[in-house]
Amino acid sequence: MKENNPPPLDKDDIAMLKTYGIGPYSTSVKKVEKKIQEISKNINDLCGTKESDTGVAPPSQWDIIADRKMAQEEQPLQVARCTRIISPNTDEAKYVINMKQSGKFVVGLGDQVSPTDIEEGMRVGVDLKKYQIQMPLPLRVDPTVSMMMVEEKPNVTYNDVGGCKDQIKKLREVVELPMLHPEKFVKLGIDPPKGVLCYGPPGTGKTLLAKAVANRTDACFIRVIGSELVQKYVGEGARMVREIFQLARSKKACILFFDEVDAIGGARFDDGSGGDNEVQRTMLEIVNQLDGFDARGNIKVLMATNRPDTLDPALLRPGRLDRKVEFGLPDLEGRVQIFQIHARTMNCERDIRFQLLARLCPNSTGAEIGSVCTEAGMFAIRARRKTVTEKDFLDAVNKVVRGYKKFSSTPKYMVYN
Ligand SMILES: Nc1ncnc2c1ncn2[C@@H]1O[C@H](COP(=O)(O)OP(=O)(O)OP(=O)(O)O)[C@@H](O)[C@H]1O
Ligand SMILES: [Mg+2]
Repeated sequence: MKENNPPPLDKDDIAMLKTYGIGPYSTSVKKVEKKIQEISKNINDLCGTKESDTGVAPPSQWDIIADRKMAQEEQPLQVARCTRIISPNTDEAKYVINMKQSGKFVVGLGDQVSPTDIEEGMRVGVDLKKYQIQMPLPLRVDPTVSMMMVEEKPNVTYNDVGGCKDQIKKLREVVELPMLHPEKFVKLGIDPPKGVLCYGPPGTGKTLLAKAVANRTDACFIRVIGSELVQKYVGEGARMVREIFQLARSKKACILFFDEVDAIGGARFDDGSGGDNEVQRTMLEIVNQLDGFDARGNIKVLMATNRPDTLDPALLRPGRLDRKVEFGLPDLEGRVQIFQIHARTMNCERDIRFQLLARLCPNSTGAEIGSVCTEAGMFAIRARRKTVTEKDFLDAVNKVVRGYKKFSSTPKYMVYN
């Protein structure tokens, strides 16, 4: 009777039960283990990224001979185009492929491709024996064009751009709003603005802001430098423009940035030689792509230039580039911010009066202020000091602002803008 109804356990019993299986040192061992883990984590943090983090095995484990053998065993594939799918979405789906040299064939799929991967009109790789489709291939793009895609995000954020509040706001309205809230535009029944022209004197942060945009967006970012489109042979530049837009259209959302667009966007003129200018033809292709017959899709176009007055009016008309954002010289508040941004990474003395420094360099561009900070660092190095003092900054202001006045092109450019 007593055995069926044992007395309930009290606190001491539970405490004793909990010690079951625990050795005399287990708590201290656990403590030490935790400490070891913390220390090794610290060490890893301090070491930073290592080679093995890139996914590549250490060279000691490489087996180049076996790899080479494997690469040789793999059959080369041939490129074909899948022109039609017979009875799609069933088990007996067959594919009509077109090969340039040998004609058309009806083939099946290889083991490693799923039927959902293949669409009509796609480029595919087929093996040489049975012509089975082995892999889908991406669109063919000119390698020089695919190089323009920015894959590594630049490490510039909106916080690194001092002043320019208005400009940032205008740019974000065009670039981010239609991508994040397309329904707002649909409701109102307007087309979202599609292009922005950034203009202003050199060194006022046009390229910098575009980098910040590229950093923030998840969309594909393609950066084209105007002079890249000027090619040796007739029609090459226009073809490149077409391929750039084709690449952009194949993405879900894309931002195209043409830097220094005055290299190609100059106003049309007659040079008297009778033939028209190749550069102009490239520009006309851009105009055509911006609102030609092909829908532009979700492509946003940014352009940057120093000389908006030289650009062709056709390029600038609303509908192609709806917005024009002027980058002026930074005001006092902007200059203070730019000073702080550039001094952020520097080893400066505490409480430097950036307000005062900003007041001392009126009419300076962001680039000149950046140069002031670098020069201040140089003064400190020359004096063998480890920190930069306010005096260094004052000397640097004297040197840069007074000394470089001769070279400064800003006043000249202010005339055009
Ligand atoms: N608003 C700003 N805030 C912080 N740094 C700036 C700013 N404007 C310019 N700078 C500094 O100046 C440098 C040059 O700026 P940027 O390359 O954007 O000039 P730009 O306007 O593209 O000139 P250009 O028309 O000659 O190409 C930047 O790398 C940056 O260090
Ligand atoms: Mg630039």
